[in-house]
Amino acid sequence: MAVVSTPATLERALPAMDDAEVLRIRNDFPVLNQLVNGQPLVYLDSGATSQNPLSVIEAEQEFYEQRNAAVHRGAHHLAVEATEVFEDARQTVADFVGADYSEVIWTSNATEGLNLLSYAFSNAGMWAAQGRGDERLRELALNPGDEIVVTEMEHHANLIPWQELAFRTGAALRYIPVDDAGALRMDLAGDIIGPRTKVVAFTHASNVLGVINPVAELVGLARRAGALVVLDACQSAPHLALNIKELDVDFAVFSGHKMLAPTGIGVLYGKQELLDILPPFLTGGSMITTVTMERAEYLPAPQRFEAGTQRISQAVALAAAANYLTETGLDRIHYWESELGQRMVAGLEAIPGIRVLGPAAGQDRIGLAAFDVEGVHAHDVGQFLDSKGIAVRVGHHCAQPLHRRLGLTATTRASAYLYNTTDDVDQFLNAVAGVRAYFRA
Ligand code: ALA
Repeated sequence: MAVVSTPATLERALPAMDDAEVLRIRNDFPVLNQLVNGQPLVYLDSGATSQNPLSVIEAEQEFYEQRNAAVHRGAHHLAVEATEVFEDARQTVADFVGADYSEVIWTSNATEGLNLLSYAFSNAGMWAAQGRGDERLRELALNPGDEIVVTEMEHHANLIPWQELAFRTGAALRYIPVDDAGALRMDLAGDIIGPRTKVVAFTHASNVLGVINPVAELVGLARRAGALVVLDACQSAPHLALNIKELDVDFAVFSGHKMLAPTGIGVLYGKQELLDILPPFLTGGSMITTVTMERAEYLPAPQRFEAGTQRISQAVALAAAANYLTETGLDRIHYWESELGQRMVAGLEAIPGIRVLGPAAGQDRIGLAAFDVEGVHAHDVGQFLDSKGIAVRVGHHCAQPLHRRLGLTATTRASAYLYNTTDDVDQFLNAVAGVRAYFRA
């Protein structure tokens, strides 16, 4: 199959990655070196979770072999060392996304980060009503008449916490719709984001459509309305060079397990001046200054938002993952994945009976493609591909409203990462080309 060109809007990152380099990279990922159903594994499900390189696995193992102790709680040697590597990891991850050290809050994953934030907002309302905390909390509090704006392409993690916040506060939830091709209706966004809007939460890159949203434009509309911006960077932080400060969002979240790190670790970024006044969500040990039997005073961020014993080895491993990606080069990874994404879409579009969601071939997208096979349920497509050793995700990809909008209940999604070759994509395309005949569709 001919290599399709990558859209001109994405500047070529030099030196470009190629299959030979990817095959060397793949040696760092032991799990990829196995047979599945008698065939070499082709892993195209990194949008759901990514695999771990040896440096990440070893970082976590080394922590347990040499340094395991609770952080911020002990004066002994191991406790000091564990605290040091834990906080060094925070600095590494802050640098990775262009944030300041104390703006990085550890969470379990992006979902927890968004829930933390939505509860911190409702606590802001409660504190303001009780006259507690900083005066500025009154501005952060959501009340009936206020609005929260999301988009129709959000995955559930960036939708349901805002629905629940709306229920708790009496605020209304509005959304920017997508068109039939899955693009955000930016022509409507200026009316939807208005004087009542307090929060605008949207995904940087869609886990279904592959589209990269116009962050600057959305931030501009939110600023004009005086609203705060929450960026879901789950599908962008792992795949492209992110500078959160340049994007000028107020909060952002991402998950470690989608960027070569273990499960159980993620990040909530917040601008320092906002984290300084937001009330905590979880309360307990290690996030306080003084506690009496009646009340507690809380530490500043990030500790204020990190109650209880933390995910220490996972944070250390996430820093190792960030280093691995930085050493490979995020711009190079982005470019390579974009080429794989284009190859996927062009190949899928050429197969009769396939409908690809999101931008057509030749238009910018990240390295994933979700598609519908006419006459065959996505679960059958997934099983057929699995029988050939090809791992993809099937279902609604935690984005039911988007699927409903596009008239579908389930799709099949292939999502690539830096360890995928063009041959992986071609094997996937060859297999998909046989699906309809196999199921006699
Ligand atoms: N983690 C979900 C995915 O696979 C949302 O895209």
